[in-house]
Amino acid sequence: MGSQKQGLMWLTGLLFLNILVLSCADVQYYEFFLQESQITKLCSTKNTLTLNGSFPGPEIRARRGDTVFVNVHNQANSSVSITWEGIEDSNNGSNQLIQPGRNFTYQIDLDDEIGTLWWHATSAWASATVHGAFVVLPAANEDYPFPTPDSDKTIIIGEWFRQELTEANQTIAPGQADAYTIDGHTGETTGCSSNDTTFEYEVDYQSLYIVRIINAVNETMEFGVASHSLTIIGQRGAYSRRSFTNSLTLAPHQVTDVLMCADQNLGHYYITARPASDANRSTAGILRYATTSL
Ligand SMILES: *[C@@H]1O[C@H](CO)[C@@H](O)[C@H](O)[C@H]1NC(C)=O
Ligand SMILES: *[C@@H]1O[C@H](CO)[C@@H](O)[C@H](O)[C@H]1NC(C)=O
Ligand SMILES: *[C@@H]1O[C@H](CO)[C@@H](O)[C@H](O)[C@H]1NC(C)=O
Ligand SMILES: *[C@@H]1O[C@H](CO)[C@@H](O)[C@H](O)[C@H]1NC(C)=O
Ligand SMILES: *[C@@H]1O[C@H](CO)[C@@H](O)[C@H](O)[C@H]1NC(C)=O
Ligand SMILES: *[C@@H]1O[C@H](CO)[C@@H](O)[C@H](O)[C@H]1NC(C)=O
Ligand SMILES: *[C@@H]1O[C@H](CO)[C@@H](O)[C@H](O)[C@H]1NC(C)=O
Ligand SMILES: *[C@@H]1O[C@H](CO)[C@@H](O)[C@H](O)[C@H]1NC(C)=O
Repeated sequence: MGSQKQGLMWLTGLLFLNILVLSCADVQYYEFFLQESQITKLCSTKNTLTLNGSFPGPEIRARRGDTVFVNVHNQANSSVSITWEGIEDSNNGSNQLIQPGRNFTYQIDLDDEIGTLWWHATSAWASATVHGAFVVLPAANEDYPFPTPDSDKTIIIGEWFRQELTEANQTIAPGQADAYTIDGHTGETTGCSSNDTTFEYEVDYQSLYIVRIINAVNETMEFGVASHSLTIIGQRGAYSRRSFTNSLTLAPHQVTDVLMCADQNLGHYYITARPASDANRSTAGILRYATTSL
């Protein structure tokens, strides 16, 4: 009897919680424009398929339980569809290519997903430049199950091809990239320093960050930040068991969330990404401590 009553109370509590969470859920609208953009890297300019002209594409931010509508307007020359990695419930349109000149609105109903996910063009050749982060923050009344970070940062590991990627020549084999990128930056060791830029991430001393690392490359990649240890907190849209590491190995298309404390001496530290198969093809960015003058 007693335990039945307790069970009932527990259930009521759960329902109450559920209603609380639901009542805080929000609806977000995003407009995406698929375009042909001219981008210069590695000393040459090429026609590049992008979303809103940027590589990587825009980041989506929502809270757990939200509904997100993304209207994709195709102003480019090829038909595409978008894949929402790791999201269970979406009006996915997966079998529906968006033709040039048309638009399609995806409806994404977030449920238990939390942390970092990503979206990309479904076809591999278009996915190389058409991709971005999908960040799911805790619901408004929900805490992180770890110390609350001061801020967060998404870092997308990508690749760059000198050749124009089109539907006609869509063969992208692992290891073929002409350069690897950190958030779209090739770094300055490419011999094209007049056009190529280096990724920079400014942090405040003693602040705690969630760093969301997305491997958009179809290869196993190694990622690290010199002198800083990383605490893994999430993978594939869920919190994970915490573990400490100095460098991350990310499987093809894997996403990992880590906590990083900016607890080293003020200065600059290398952020590196490279394919596991070839240590010589490393690309570097810089973690820079903000210097405060009091
Ligand atoms: C994409 O560009 C359009 C038009 O410039 C703008 O209205 C929209 O807000 C942009 N979307 C994102 C996610 O930045
Ligand atoms: C798009 O296609 C049209 C017609 O085929 C062509 O004239 C135009 O140059 C193409 N634009 C790009 C950016 O490829
Ligand atoms: C995508 O949506 C279609 C129709 O809306 C559905 O039949 C299909 O199962 C969905 N696929 C996935 C992977 O959710
Ligand atoms: C989006 O597509 C619908 C039909 O699917 C059309 O009615 C609408 O005008 C389009 N909107 C824009 C802004 O192109
Ligand atoms: C990833 O690479 C493998 C070969 O290692 C290939 O079979 C597969 O089709 C590729 N996937 C994508 C999405 O490019
Ligand atoms: C890929 O396609 C573009 C445009 O159609 C063409 O200029 C380029 O030479 C092709 N590259 C390869 C390797 O076939
Ligand atoms: C690339 O660098 C060269 C040399 O500084 C410059 O002339 C050119 O305008 C740059 N191109 C772009 C797209 O920034
Ligand atoms: C990396 O570079 C070193 C020294 O330049 C060379 O000996 C080694 O063979 C290279 N490794 C690969 C996988 O290319």
